[in-house]
Amino acid sequence: MSEQFAVAILAAGQGTRFRSQRAKVLHSAGGRTLIEHVVLAARQLFPKGIFVIVGHQADAVMVSLRETGIRNLKFIHQKEQLGTGHALRSGERELAKAAPLLLVICGDTPLLTPGTLRSFVAVHRKSGAVATVLTAEMEDPAGYGRIVRGPSGSVAAIVEHKSASADQRKIREINSGIYCFQTIHLFNALRRVKLDPLKKEYYLTDVIGLLAGDGHRVAAYKTPDSSEVIGINDRAELARVDCLLRARKARELMLSGVTIVAPETVRIDPDVRVGSDTEIEPGAILLGRTRIGKNCRIGAYSVITDSELADDVTVRPSCVVTESGIAKGASIGPFAHLRPGSVIGEDARVGNFVEIKKARLGRGSKASHLTYLGDATIGKDVNVGCGTITVNYDGEHKHQTVVEDNAFVGSGANLIAPVRIGRNSFVAAGSTITEDVPPNALAIGRARQTMKPGWATRRKK
Ligand code: UD1
Ligand code: CA
Repeated sequence: MSEQFAVAILAAGQGTRFRSQRAKVLHSAGGRTLIEHVVLAARQLFPKGIFVIVGHQADAVMVSLRETGIRNLKFIHQKEQLGTGHALRSGERELAKAAPLLLVICGDTPLLTPGTLRSFVAVHRKSGAVATVLTAEMEDPAGYGRIVRGPSGSVAAIVEHKSASADQRKIREINSGIYCFQTIHLFNALRRVKLDPLKKEYYLTDVIGLLAGDGHRVAAYKTPDSSEVIGINDRAELARVDCLLRARKARELMLSGVTIVAPETVRIDPDVRVGSDTEIEPGAILLGRTRIGKNCRIGAYSVITDSELADDVTVRPSCVVTESGIAKGASIGPFAHLRPGSVIGEDARVGNFVEIKKARLGRGSKASHLTYLGDATIGKDVNVGCGTITVNYDGEHKHQTVVEDNAFVGSGANLIAPVRIGRNSFVAAGSTITEDVPPNALAIGRARQTMKPGWATRRKK
């Protein structure tokens, strides 16, 4: 039987190079915080326990992880951030007895996949080494710790970039910051790590040299995909990794039958689902728990958040849709704004410069141009004329507007809520409607036109 292992994730650092008020691991890439990516990957290995070492903005990091709904995380507090070695030592009491093996991961490597972690742990178990380091060959290794190999090919030491000699800096094999340790040996060596004179920190990487110096075997597992172990230290790296994570999501959708035009321009959160044969145009942004059906078209530069679109929906360019629903065959935009609580019925049509909030537009109804519908229920096959406004707010309260099936609201109408327009009724263009309109009626609510012949000619004189 293989030995059990626990996971320790280092997430206590401030992330000085981010120049941010917020802890580095709370910055997001690919729609999740950095720490959430790492925790999710670790969780898929079903370890005996996951310990997150927190320090800088510990409360914010813990709250943010709890909000994701990931359960059974244990937190260790590193009161002062005195380096990666010190971080693990802060948890010695819990970690030393957690499991015979400890998988250590940095909280700033969000591209890491569960598959790579799994292979890594398997290699460590087979090797019989006291420690195994996950390494990679980097085009540009600057900033990373370098792997110094001994004559037999085993790892002799890790040298931090800052402390490395000119020759050592030429080494392209880097330390990913991910290790598997025999727990006992880790803490044995950690106690002997000295403060680094340059950075005034206790380096976890020094453990490797100490263990090798004791005559123990330290192994390395070089991952073929070096991009997976990119560590994020500043916002330029954050942007690069964000791009890679979004490309992963776009690719996954494309392989499942979604057409994405210019996939490098779209931004799609990890939990978004999209049905097959839907086409997504450049610059589209799909966020949160958005669900999109089959055969839809998502127009360029539209932003859809936490919304549900059925099949055959058309979203023309530059729409903003938030916490709303759109039924089968409906179309919106260009330039439509669905604010929270909007429901667009089957085959309904919402045109340009239409804003909808907490309102239902029934099956086959149309609001084609320049309209505001707020706190309203619009029935089936209603025509809402250009420039119609539900006057829903009296300065203190919001009031409801109801338009029943098959009604026709002429252009430029003000429907002063609370008000109801009965079925099959007509509202004359330019009306201000303050009273309920019964079914099958015509309501005209506007001043009669007066004519003054010759007025303009007289004015000129
Ligand atoms: C570290 C490694 C380096 C490796 C690189 C990989 C050390 C000394 N160096 O360098 O060899 O190539 O990662 O990305 O380990 N942290 C704490 N407490 C602290 C300091 C840091 O929890 O006191 C956490 C940070 O939040 C971060 C992780 O440890 O998640 C790594 O720290 P960071 O400062 O980014 O280390 P690097 O300089 O990148
Ligand atoms: Ca780092």
